[in-house]
Amino acid sequence: MYYIGIDLGTSAMKLLLVDEAGTIKRSVTREYPLSMPHPGWSEQNPMDWWSACLIGAEELLSGIDRSQVAGIGCGGQMHGLVVLDSGDEIIRDAILWNDGRTSEEVEYLNDTVGRDVISGYTANIAFAGFTAPKLLWMKKHEPENFARISKIMLPKDYINYKLTGVHSCDYSDASGMLLLDVRNRRWSREMLDICSVREDQMPSLFESYEVIGTLKPEIATALSLPAGVRVVAGAGDNAAAAVGTGTVGDGNCNISIGTSGTVFISSEVFGQDMDNALHSFAHADGNYHLMGCMLSAASCNKWFCDEIIREKDYQAVQDEIDPARLGENEVFFLPYLMGERSPINDTDARGVFMGMSMNTTRADMVQAVLEGVAFAIRDNIEIARSVGIRIERSKICGGGARSRLWQTIFSSVLNIPLDIPMTEEGPGYGGAMLAMVGTGLYPDVKKCAEALTRVKDTVYPDPVLAEKYSERYAKYRKIYPALRDVFKEMRK
Ligand code: XUL
Repeated sequence: MYYIGIDLGTSAMKLLLVDEAGTIKRSVTREYPLSMPHPGWSEQNPMDWWSACLIGAEELLSGIDRSQVAGIGCGGQMHGLVVLDSGDEIIRDAILWNDGRTSEEVEYLNDTVGRDVISGYTANIAFAGFTAPKLLWMKKHEPENFARISKIMLPKDYINYKLTGVHSCDYSDASGMLLLDVRNRRWSREMLDICSVREDQMPSLFESYEVIGTLKPEIATALSLPAGVRVVAGAGDNAAAAVGTGTVGDGNCNISIGTSGTVFISSEVFGQDMDNALHSFAHADGNYHLMGCMLSAASCNKWFCDEIIREKDYQAVQDEIDPARLGENEVFFLPYLMGERSPINDTDARGVFMGMSMNTTRADMVQAVLEGVAFAIRDNIEIARSVGIRIERSKICGGGARSRLWQTIFSSVLNIPLDIPMTEEGPGYGGAMLAMVGTGLYPDVKKCAEALTRVKDTVYPDPVLAEKYSERYAKYRKIYPALRDVFKEMRK
């Protein structure tokens, strides 16, 4: 049998065809646009996701015996607000996870309603990208759109709805809405009230590996797939990536370097960082996780190469960096191109290069970008360590994690070994694995992960470099506090 795993990312949708042995038989990527109508805003048209899905699936399945497809599972970009009217039509473009328009609503939730209150209802505090502040924003700025809302969904739930006709959401993704009582796995009535939302406007909740339905007849016909193909609820992309890299069970860590950068720590029991700098979310294996999320990770490198030095061959650009210069760079980079979520929760923060002189080269600046992202990931690891979590090694996945140089920098900046999974397609592979569990091939996610996930390589920290990076990290940590008020003053 075959299983389709879908990764609904920010720059593209990636579809994987995986067989029963866990082998990826084919993968297809379809890009779509991202619109930034104002600085710090970030939107996408859900119809672009859906056409990427239909066209991508057709390409994925060409020449394949389609009668053998058993299940579909999707891992999707989290927190994006998708609103449908009573005819299930999209009311406006989705407001994405890295959109920073909601500073006032975040202040209202955290300061007026109160952090402790919100955290008591949901296990989390408000961050700009989360879904609840976006609903408050829409209520204030687009009341006519708000009044038309019949269903509220997250990005991958829209794909699941188009495939099956079922309005669903899984617990891992729902956790990031700030509308879920994460510990008890149910919608928080108090939070729904605060956001002026009724429970019937919310989708039905499922575990990530549960089947929400089968393909709608017209979709099955359009894709020449059996009508009985089952679709599981799927997961937020980070939980799906954690499944795809085998980050399940207690105390395992996965670092994902995609458009965003995340540190994901799986746990068999509910836990909460009392300062709420880390998110406390449900995991796709039926348990829980803690997570720190930085908003711009591999996207910093992409931005610098594509937009600033206009060089598409990222590897060639990195080849200019002299390995002897690692740990010696005088240039620092703050990677806050879209503001920052964890741990500083500051929508006003922006990217900064610091320490340039007449001797600075293009290679120094590229290196500073790679190092700045690694330092920002370390900020999240330090928060986890400060609440007593021991992180002695981690997996690393995502587009940015493919560069050997960047892997080396990460390992020495974090001073831990980094395991490179056999399959780097985290969210899509995790989605396919959830479909395997949902259709009964495996009894649970843990067993599926034990059977299918392997480490192909490990990058170890270099002790000398780790020492140098420790010193540089101490300097890096001084930059943001020195600029925080300046960022605020510059807010438009
Ligand atoms: C996690 C987050 C991002 C997106 C990226 O909280 O906002 O990792 O899920 O797709």
